[in-house]
Amino acid sequence: MKEPKDYIIFPLDLSTYDQAISYVETLDGHVGLFKVGLELFIAQGPEILKAIRNFTDAGIFLDLKLHDIPATVKRAFMAASLYLPQFVTVHCNEGDESLRGVAEENPGNSKILAITVLTSLNQEKLKRLGYSREYADNVSALVLLKARMAREAGCHGVVCSGLEVAAVRKEIGPDMIAVTPGIRPAWTVVDQDDQKRIVTPADAVRNGSDYIVIGRPIRDAKDPQDAAKRVAEEIASAL
Ligand code: C5P
Repeated sequence: MKEPKDYIIFPLDLSTYDQAISYVETLDGHVGLFKVGLELFIAQGPEILKAIRNFTDAGIFLDLKLHDIPATVKRAFMAASLYLPQFVTVHCNEGDESLRGVAEENPGNSKILAITVLTSLNQEKLKRLGYSREYADNVSALVLLKARMAREAGCHGVVCSGLEVAAVRKEIGPDMIAVTPGIRPAWTVVDQDDQKRIVTPADAVRNGSDYIVIGRPIRDAKDPQDAAKRVAEEIASAL
């Protein structure tokens, strides 16, 4: 059965092997998955995925946000899935053909999560990128458009902000996975925080999140293990 801690995805936003493995050892048994993003993957290569697996039974969330022509995305996904990550992220921005290509030929057990809209994109940036007013002025509508595309293409889930997850849950139904970053427990203070559109762990789960990505509130806490426990308690209160 899924326990409250299993909802937590801890991002290993670090570049050295020692730092990454040290957090894996500290948080093993206290979080559900470890997220390997571009920084660690580029710095250490795919061998880091094997190394993490040697230290923990927790799942690996491979956050490569694949974005290229459909054939390249498909091949990159297949190459990544050989390392047995539980999840791999793929961008929606190349359109449904790219998502469908990955979903249709997925020989491993890695699940495909579609990135809807990065939370760093706002109205101004979307306009400059050439989005019509219909979507530039209404980021939520764009998130829902991408979530629908991911569902129709056969993806297993989507990544979206906690502010949109309730609407996204309605769009994708009960069976698809929703992952939300931008999580801040009420007790946390992150120095010069760049996350603006934030929600608490309890609200994210209440609104339909299956997993929350939560990094600095745990990483920068005096006692990261204790911080992870507090997040799990907060999740338990919402279940
Ligand atoms: O909790 P914290 O802000 O430290 O988490 C940062 C992590 O969440 C990074 O790995 C980042 O890639 C990821 N993320 C994000 N915002 C998004 C999508 C992912 O911060 N919209």
